[in-house]
Amino acid sequence: MAPETAEQTQEELILGFLLEGGEDFTSGEALSSKLGLSRTAVWKRVEALRGKGYRIEAIPARGYRLVEVPDRLTALELNPLLSSRELGRIIHSHDTLPSTNERAFRLAHDGAEHGTVVVTDQQTAGKGRRGRTWVSPPGLNLYFSAILRPELPPQRAPELTLVAAVALTEVLREFGTEAFIKWPNDVQIGGLKVAGILTELSAEPERVHFVVLGVGVNLNSQPEHFPEELRGTATSVAQALGQRVPRAAFAASLWTRLEKWLDLHLETGFGAVRQRWKALSSTLGQDVLVRTDRREFQGHAEDIDAAGALLVRVEDGSLERVLAGDVERLRPRATNRP
Ligand code: BTN
Repeated sequence: MAPETAEQTQEELILGFLLEGGEDFTSGEALSSKLGLSRTAVWKRVEALRGKGYRIEAIPARGYRLVEVPDRLTALELNPLLSSRELGRIIHSHDTLPSTNERAFRLAHDGAEHGTVVVTDQQTAGKGRRGRTWVSPPGLNLYFSAILRPELPPQRAPELTLVAAVALTEVLREFGTEAFIKWPNDVQIGGLKVAGILTELSAEPERVHFVVLGVGVNLNSQPEHFPEELRGTATSVAQALGQRVPRAAFAASLWTRLEKWLDLHLETGFGAVRQRWKALSSTLGQDVLVRTDRREFQGHAEDIDAAGALLVRVEDGSLERVLAGDVERLRPRATNRP
């Protein structure tokens, strides 16, 4: 849950100073004067941190040095890495939850602030789009939901999903992958799904109460962590890079980047997001099979419009507008398009 006790805050501060110190030792005296604590109290907090999996070296007369940070997703690991103003500044961190979206929705309903994030190590009933489940094993990946209270009319709320897809894809690229967005908001590496976004809304006709932006990123899953039926369609960042990804570093980068894009979106509208989305998308320019709740058809994905709907040129030359659904890439044709 949110870090409220004095001990937790002190631990966070100690970690901050040790991180700042990098390879160098920070003296016990410096820590105790910075924190206004006795040397014994500093030592107790260091012991508590060790109990949480931090490896902290201590050498008499030299002080303390941080050697290893555990791969956990609590405020202790996240706060020192975050550069956001509001997003993720209140963190509800859990070992296990049925679904972060569900928990965030309840918290938002009870008045949780804009920017509050619910994050969990594992989900037992992770929700995907269109009634699907999101496979969420423990100790490997990132599953979170951010509570947003944007000044937007409800009909513009779907734009937030595209904002998130842009931020997510940029951070995946920053971490060294060749990620692309597949319309509407799947993120893929090498044509395999690596992340998904599920946005849920509470609104009245004129006003958004809140939006729950749920994001799942397969960071460290290996093929054996996916159920059989997903093995040919899903991947992870670690599989793409051949090395483990630190979850807190990824989450902090993502929340920082997401806030930047959300700010830009609120200040300047959807234009810049749309341009960036188009540049990061692998769907546009492809021949696709479109599946919606009501029908299935083929065509050429040409563009997204100002509301994020996919514009598909069909056989008779007309343009179909798809607001919700799935697309599947069709094999490129043997002949050139006219
Ligand atoms: C998709 O189907 O592509 C969307 C998947 C969204 C999964 C995330 S994991 C965190 C959050 N909590 C949920 O229950 N779902 C979203």
